[in-house]
Amino acid sequence: MPATIIMGGQWGDEGKGKLTDALAAEAHVVVRANGGSNAGHTVETDQGVFKFHLIPSGILNPDCHCIVGAGVVVNPFALVEEMEMLEGRGVALSNLRLSDRAHLVLPYHPRLDQLEESERQDDELGTTLTGNGPAYADKVSRHGLRVADLLDGPSLRRKLDREVAAKNRILTELHGQEPIDAEDLYRRLLVITDRIQPHIAPSEVLVQSALDEGRSILVECAQGAMLDIDYGTYPFVTSSSPTAAGACQGAGIAPTRIDHVVAVFKAYSTRVGTGPLPTELHDATGDTIRERGKEYGTTTGRPRRTGWFDAVAARHIVRLNGVTEVTLTLLDVLDVFPTISVCTEYHVGGSRLNHIPARGEVLSSTIPHYVGTDGWLTDISGVREQEDLPAEAIAYVHFLEEALGAPITRLGVGPGREQLVSMGGAAARTLSHAR
Ligand code: GDP
Ligand code: IMO
Ligand code: MG
Repeated sequence: MPATIIMGGQWGDEGKGKLTDALAAEAHVVVRANGGSNAGHTVETDQGVFKFHLIPSGILNPDCHCIVGAGVVVNPFALVEEMEMLEGRGVALSNLRLSDRAHLVLPYHPRLDQLEESERQDDELGTTLTGNGPAYADKVSRHGLRVADLLDGPSLRRKLDREVAAKNRILTELHGQEPIDAEDLYRRLLVITDRIQPHIAPSEVLVQSALDEGRSILVECAQGAMLDIDYGTYPFVTSSSPTAAGACQGAGIAPTRIDHVVAVFKAYSTRVGTGPLPTELHDATGDTIRERGKEYGTTTGRPRRTGWFDAVAARHIVRLNGVTEVTLTLLDVLDVFPTISVCTEYHVGGSRLNHIPARGEVLSSTIPHYVGTDGWLTDISGVREQEDLPAEAIAYVHFLEEALGAPITRLGVGPGREQLVSMGGAAARTLSHAR
């Protein structure tokens, strides 16, 4: 796996953290490509449960070098908190590097996030309120401060004064709120800089050198492709590109050097926050999925909305991202259902739709057309080999492979590190069939 992208295929929380941790056992480098502390990536090991927000999920593997890439927006206070949490649990951080080009999330960004959300009133996006959107907005409008700015005190002070003054005008004059104290923020940033300075590096150079030396690299995306700023359910999206293309950009890897694009999909659908979710279930089945899958946000604790697998959206994402293989997670959550449904088509205004329409209003008004498959009604959480899976579970996996047009090479059957089933046989068969 010389250069492999791990991306979410749905609306986030597909289990990217768990897969990244598992594959990192054999990788030299893991680079986080996008998003900020809005992400919450869970890894369960013998040492307990770890929830990563900024630090790559490979960090528990002591030989793996972990890089926070240029495409990430970094709240330096949240980063230090996460570093201290990990060190407190005995995790070494000597292999952690932070791109000097990554943009900073500063205290005015979460405050603006909150204000923008309240201004949207009934059309709120349900953001994580971590300041992710305002930080990316500053980056694109060229108002951002970057990690590299922390390394030059006088220049940092000048830029901070200018940006804080601009943001304070919005906070005080438009919203009647307390201003941010630039002097206090500057001093706090100096303290934090001492802590993170040893980790700051030109990360794209490290990545290129690792590739030239033939080392294997994993690119870990945050969020999911249906939350992509361009191709997701705009405006109910995040502010970065959690796609294969975005992964290359954020990690500093040319597209021509990528060997594998692994999309992680749940065996059903979830979404946290507002926006269309065509297969959403507002019934006991949806509740059962939520409870069995412990579908509560890793970052915010909010209950996730749940529904059946949406193969129209999934197929769209597979094609858009050149997905070479799929990891299907949380299959064990479906153990209790006699029949499992998959949405294979959208019906809208009497016609069929096989792609994601640009207008959210159209997507929300679609009627999903479902195909039912037999459930297996067996606890599969202890299964480790493909041949021990119930025939109905294998049939479900094959059905999804056909619908997605990509091989499913791994199954998640529980949250634990070891609860992954390799699907080599099915993958090979389906690959030759699908291509
Ligand atoms: P990420 O953001 O994509 O890394 O995913 P999250 O960590 O936010 O959410 C995935 C949740 O599902 C976490 O609580 C994981 O521990 C859990 N999980 C991951 N894979 C599986 C699986 O195969 N089965 C079950 N039951 N839980 C899983
Ligand atoms: P991981 O990496 C699920 C959602 C928010 C909201 C929208 C915009 O753990 O899969 P933002 O704070 O980015 O401005 O919020 O995107 N969202 C996620 N949903 N998993 C995530 O990350 C998410 N990051 C953002 O709930 O609907
Ligand atoms: Mg998550």
